[in-house]
Amino acid sequence: MPRKKFVAGNWKMNTTLAEAKALGSAIAQGVGSSSKVDVAVCPPFPWLVSVSEVLKGSSVALGAQDVHNEAKGAFTGEVSTGMLKEAGCKYVIVGHSERRHILGESDLTVHLKLHAAVEAGMHVILCVGETLVERERNLAERVFQRQVYSALAGITDEQWPLIVIAYEPVWAIGTGRTATPEQAQLAHLFIRSKLQSMHGEKIANALPILYGGSVTPETAGGLFSQPDVDGGLVGGASLKADQFLAIVKAAGA
Ligand code: 13P
Repeated sequence: MPRKKFVAGNWKMNTTLAEAKALGSAIAQGVGSSSKVDVAVCPPFPWLVSVSEVLKGSSVALGAQDVHNEAKGAFTGEVSTGMLKEAGCKYVIVGHSERRHILGESDLTVHLKLHAAVEAGMHVILCVGETLVERERNLAERVFQRQVYSALAGITDEQWPLIVIAYEPVWAIGTGRTATPEQAQLAHLFIRSKLQSMHGEKIANALPILYGGSVTPETAGGLFSQPDVDGGLVGGASLKADQFLAIVKAAGA
Protein backbone atom coordinates (compact mmCIF):
# COMPACT_ATOMS: atom_id res chain seq x y z
CA MET A 1 0.00 0.00 0.00
CA PRO A 2 1.44 3.42 -0.88
CA ARG A 3 2.29 5.58 2.10
CA LYS A 4 -0.03 8.54 2.69
CA LYS A 5 1.74 11.90 2.49
CA PHE A 6 2.02 13.88 5.72
CA VAL A 7 2.72 17.60 6.12
CA ALA A 8 3.31 19.04 9.60
CA GLY A 9 3.93 22.66 10.57
CA ASN A 10 6.38 23.37 13.38
CA TRP A 11 5.59 26.89 14.55
CA LYS A 12 8.58 26.88 16.95
CA MET A 13 8.60 29.87 19.39
CA ASN A 14 6.44 32.06 17.16
CA THR A 15 2.94 33.61 17.16
CA THR A 16 0.87 35.57 19.65
CA LEU A 17 -2.32 33.89 20.85
CA ALA A 18 -4.38 35.88 18.33
CA GLU A 19 -1.99 34.97 15.50
CA ALA A 20 -2.01 31.30 16.49
CA LYS A 21 -5.81 31.14 16.45
CA ALA A 22 -6.03 32.96 13.11
CA LEU A 23 -3.36 30.73 11.56
CA GLY A 24 -4.98 27.55 12.89
CA SER A 25 -8.40 28.64 11.61
CA ALA A 26 -7.11 29.49 8.16
CA ILE A 27 -5.33 26.15 7.87
CA ALA A 28 -8.37 24.23 9.16
CA GLN A 29 -10.56 26.00 6.63
CA GLY A 30 -8.12 25.44 3.78
CA VAL A 31 -7.69 21.71 4.52
CA GLY A 32 -11.35 21.01 5.36
CA SER A 33 -12.89 17.99 6.98
CA SER A 34 -11.13 15.38 4.87
CA SER A 35 -7.89 15.36 2.96
CA LYS A 36 -5.81 12.99 0.89
CA VAL A 37 -2.83 14.27 2.89
CA ASP A 38 -2.38 13.97 6.66
CA VAL A 39 -1.86 17.46 8.10
CA ALA A 40 -0.78 18.59 11.57
CA VAL A 41 0.23 21.85 13.22
CA CYS A 42 2.51 22.15 16.26
CA PRO A 43 1.96 25.47 18.06
CA PRO A 44 3.80 26.60 21.22
CA PHE A 45 2.58 24.94 24.46
CA PRO A 46 0.49 27.86 25.81
CA TRP A 47 -1.63 28.00 22.65
CA LEU A 48 -2.37 24.28 22.29
CA VAL A 49 -5.83 24.31 23.87
CA SER A 50 -6.94 27.39 21.93
CA VAL A 51 -5.65 26.06 18.61
CA SER A 52 -7.29 22.70 19.32
CA GLU A 53 -10.63 24.58 19.53
CA VAL A 54 -10.20 26.22 16.13
CA LEU A 55 -9.17 22.93 14.48
CA LYS A 56 -12.39 21.17 15.54
CA GLY A 57 -14.38 19.82 12.58
CA SER A 58 -11.31 19.82 10.33
CA SER A 59 -8.96 16.94 9.57
CA VAL A 60 -5.95 18.95 10.81
CA ALA A 61 -4.35 17.26 13.81
CA LEU A 62 -2.66 19.00 16.72
CA GLY A 63 0.93 18.32 17.77
CA ALA A 64 3.33 19.58 20.42
CA GLN A 65 6.96 20.53 19.87
CA ASP A 66 8.42 18.59 22.80
CA VAL A 67 7.51 16.52 25.87
CA HIS A 68 9.14 15.30 29.08
CA ASN A 69 9.58 11.58 29.66
CA GLU A 70 8.20 11.54 33.21
CA ALA A 71 4.44 11.38 33.77
CA LYS A 72 4.35 13.99 36.55
CA GLY A 73 6.22 15.42 39.48
CA ALA A 74 8.92 17.91 40.37
CA PHE A 75 10.16 18.83 36.88
CA THR A 76 9.83 22.60 36.78
CA GLY A 77 8.90 23.94 33.38
CA GLU A 78 8.28 20.54 31.80
CA VAL A 79 5.12 19.13 30.20
CA SER A 80 3.94 15.49 30.25
CA THR A 81 2.31 13.24 27.67
CA GLY A 82 -0.90 13.21 29.75
CA MET A 83 -1.07 17.02 29.64
CA LEU A 84 -0.49 17.08 25.89
CA LYS A 85 -3.16 14.47 25.27
CA GLU A 86 -5.64 16.34 27.42
CA ALA A 87 -4.85 19.51 25.45
CA GLY A 88 -5.84 17.64 22.27
CA CYS A 89 -2.46 16.59 20.87
CA LYS A 90 -2.17 13.53 18.67
CA TYR A 91 1.47 14.15 17.72
CA VAL A 92 4.62 15.23 19.47
CA ILE A 93 7.94 16.23 17.91
CA VAL A 94 10.93 14.62 19.62
CA GLY A 95 14.63 15.28 19.10
CA HIS A 96 14.37 18.44 17.02
CA SER A 97 17.86 19.66 16.13
CA GLU A 98 17.24 22.95 17.94
CA ARG A 99 16.70 20.96 21.13
CA ARG A 100 19.68 18.71 20.46
CA HIS A 101 22.10 21.49 19.53
CA ILE A 102 20.87 24.62 21.35
CA LEU A 103 19.44 22.96 24.46
CA GLY A 104 21.87 20.05 24.68
CA GLU A 105 19.47 17.09 24.40
CA SER A 106 21.30 13.79 24.17
CA ASP A 107 20.38 10.65 22.24
CA LEU A 108 19.39 9.10 25.59
CA THR A 109 17.01 11.97 26.39
CA VAL A 110 15.45 11.65 22.94
CA HIS A 111 15.08 7.88 23.45
CA LEU A 112 13.34 8.35 26.82
CA LYS A 113 10.98 11.03 25.47
CA LEU A 114 10.07 8.98 22.41
CA HIS A 115 9.32 5.89 24.47
CA ALA A 116 7.25 7.85 27.00
CA ALA A 117 5.21 9.29 24.14
CA VAL A 118 4.49 6.02 22.35
CA GLU A 119 3.73 4.28 25.64
CA ALA A 120 1.10 6.98 26.16
CA GLY A 121 -0.27 6.20 22.68
CA MET A 122 0.95 9.43 21.07
CA HIS A 123 2.28 9.63 17.53
CA VAL A 124 5.91 10.78 17.47
CA ILE A 125 7.75 12.79 14.84
CA LEU A 126 11.38 11.83 15.50
CA CYS A 127 13.81 14.39 14.04
CA VAL A 128 17.26 13.33 12.87
CA GLY A 129 19.88 15.01 10.73
CA GLU A 130 23.51 16.02 10.42
CA THR A 131 25.21 19.39 10.85
CA LEU A 132 27.15 21.04 8.04
CA VAL A 133 30.48 20.03 9.59
CA GLU A 134 29.32 16.43 9.86
CA ARG A 135 28.23 16.45 6.21
CA GLU A 136 31.53 17.98 5.10
CA ARG A 137 33.43 15.29 7.03
CA ASN A 138 31.36 12.59 5.35
CA LEU A 139 29.75 11.62 8.63
CA ALA A 140 26.13 12.40 7.71
CA GLU A 141 24.93 8.82 7.33
CA ARG A 142 26.71 7.70 10.48
CA VAL A 143 25.03 10.52 12.44
CA PHE A 144 21.46 9.91 11.41
CA GLN A 145 21.89 6.15 11.60
CA ARG A 146 22.99 6.56 15.24
CA GLN A 147 20.11 8.94 15.99
CA VAL A 148 17.54 6.60 14.45
CA TYR A 149 18.91 3.46 16.14
CA SER A 150 19.26 4.95 19.59
CA ALA A 151 15.84 6.61 19.61
CA LEU A 152 13.95 3.59 18.29
CA ALA A 153 15.67 0.76 20.16
CA GLY A 154 13.01 -1.35 21.84
CA ILE A 155 9.98 -0.19 19.86
CA THR A 156 7.38 -2.98 19.80
CA ASP A 157 5.34 -4.21 16.83
CA GLU A 158 2.23 -2.39 18.10
CA GLN A 159 4.18 0.87 18.54
CA TRP A 160 5.73 1.11 15.03
CA PRO A 161 2.59 2.62 13.47
CA LEU A 162 3.02 5.56 15.90
CA ILE A 163 6.43 6.49 14.50
CA VAL A 164 7.21 9.11 11.86
CA ILE A 165 10.80 10.12 11.09
CA ALA A 166 11.71 13.62 9.91
CA TYR A 167 15.07 13.93 8.19
CA GLU A 168 16.12 17.51 8.85
CA PRO A 169 19.69 18.32 7.83
CA VAL A 170 20.74 21.05 10.28
CA TRP A 171 22.42 23.07 7.51
CA ALA A 172 19.05 23.37 5.73
CA ILE A 173 16.97 24.55 8.70
CA GLY A 174 16.02 28.22 8.57
CA THR A 175 18.83 28.93 6.11
CA GLY A 176 16.90 29.01 2.85
CA ARG A 177 19.29 26.27 1.69
CA THR A 178 17.00 23.33 0.97
CA ALA A 179 18.48 19.91 0.31
CA THR A 180 18.05 19.00 -3.35
CA PRO A 181 15.39 16.37 -4.04
CA GLU A 182 18.23 13.95 -4.85
CA GLN A 183 20.06 14.64 -1.56
CA ALA A 184 16.81 14.15 0.37
CA GLN A 185 15.98 10.93 -1.51
CA LEU A 186 19.45 9.48 -0.85
CA ALA A 187 19.21 10.18 2.88
CA HIS A 188 15.65 8.84 3.13
CA LEU A 189 16.52 5.69 1.20
CA PHE A 190 19.52 5.14 3.47
CA ILE A 191 17.34 5.49 6.59
CA ARG A 192 14.69 3.17 5.14
CA SER A 193 17.25 0.54 4.15
CA LYS A 194 18.76 0.59 7.65
CA LEU A 195 15.26 0.22 9.15
CA GLN A 196 14.69 -2.68 6.80
CA SER A 197 17.83 -4.52 7.83
CA MET A 198 17.09 -3.95 11.53
CA HIS A 199 13.33 -4.35 11.66
CA GLY A 200 12.22 -5.94 8.41
CA GLU A 201 10.65 -4.84 5.17
CA LYS A 202 7.09 -4.43 6.44
CA ILE A 203 8.02 -1.90 9.12
CA ALA A 204 10.49 -0.05 6.87
CA ASN A 205 8.02 0.26 4.00
CA ALA A 206 5.15 1.47 6.15
CA LEU A 207 7.06 4.14 8.07
CA PRO A 208 6.64 7.73 6.81
CA ILE A 209 9.89 9.69 6.42
CA LEU A 210 9.37 13.46 6.12
CA TYR A 211 11.91 15.97 4.90
CA GLY A 212 12.46 19.21 6.83
CA GLY A 213 14.68 22.23 6.18
CA SER A 214 13.58 25.33 4.25
CA VAL A 215 10.61 23.62 2.57
CA THR A 216 8.67 26.22 0.56
CA PRO A 217 5.80 26.03 -1.93
CA GLU A 218 8.49 26.26 -4.63
CA THR A 219 10.66 23.38 -3.38
CA ALA A 220 7.90 21.10 -2.02
CA GLY A 221 6.82 19.54 -5.32
CA GLY A 222 10.30 18.35 -6.29
CA LEU A 223 10.99 16.96 -2.82
CA PHE A 224 7.64 15.20 -2.44
CA SER A 225 7.93 13.55 -5.86
CA GLN A 226 10.85 11.45 -4.59
CA PRO A 227 9.84 7.86 -3.83
CA ASP A 228 11.07 7.86 -0.22
CA VAL A 229 10.04 11.42 0.71
CA ASP A 230 6.64 11.08 2.33
CA GLY A 231 5.95 14.74 3.07
CA GLY A 232 7.49 17.57 5.05
CA LEU A 233 8.08 19.08 8.46
CA VAL A 234 7.81 22.77 7.74
CA GLY A 235 9.14 25.63 9.89
CA GLY A 236 9.12 29.18 8.51
CA ALA A 237 6.65 28.54 5.70
CA SER A 238 4.14 27.01 8.14
CA LEU A 239 3.60 30.43 9.74
CA LYS A 240 1.81 31.74 6.65
CA ALA A 241 -1.45 29.93 5.92
CA ASP A 242 -1.28 30.42 2.15
CA GLN A 243 2.27 29.05 1.96
CA PHE A 244 1.55 26.11 4.23
CA LEU A 245 -1.61 25.25 2.29
CA ALA A 246 0.34 25.42 -0.97
CA ILE A 247 2.82 22.92 0.49
CA VAL A 248 -0.07 20.65 1.57
CA LYS A 249 -1.40 20.92 -1.99
CA ALA A 250 2.01 20.02 -3.41
CA ALA A 251 1.78 16.83 -1.30
CA GLY A 252 -1.33 15.86 -3.25
CA ALA A 253 -4.27 17.29 -1.28
P1 13P B 1 12.48 25.77 8.29
O1 13P B 1 11.38 25.24 7.40
O2 13P B 1 12.20 27.15 8.82
O3 13P B 1 13.83 25.63 7.68
O4 13P B 1 12.48 24.83 9.61
C1 13P B 1 12.49 23.46 9.44
C2 13P B 1 12.30 22.83 10.76
O5 13P B 1 13.14 22.89 11.62
C3 13P B 1 11.02 22.14 11.00
O6 13P B 1 11.05 21.42 12.19
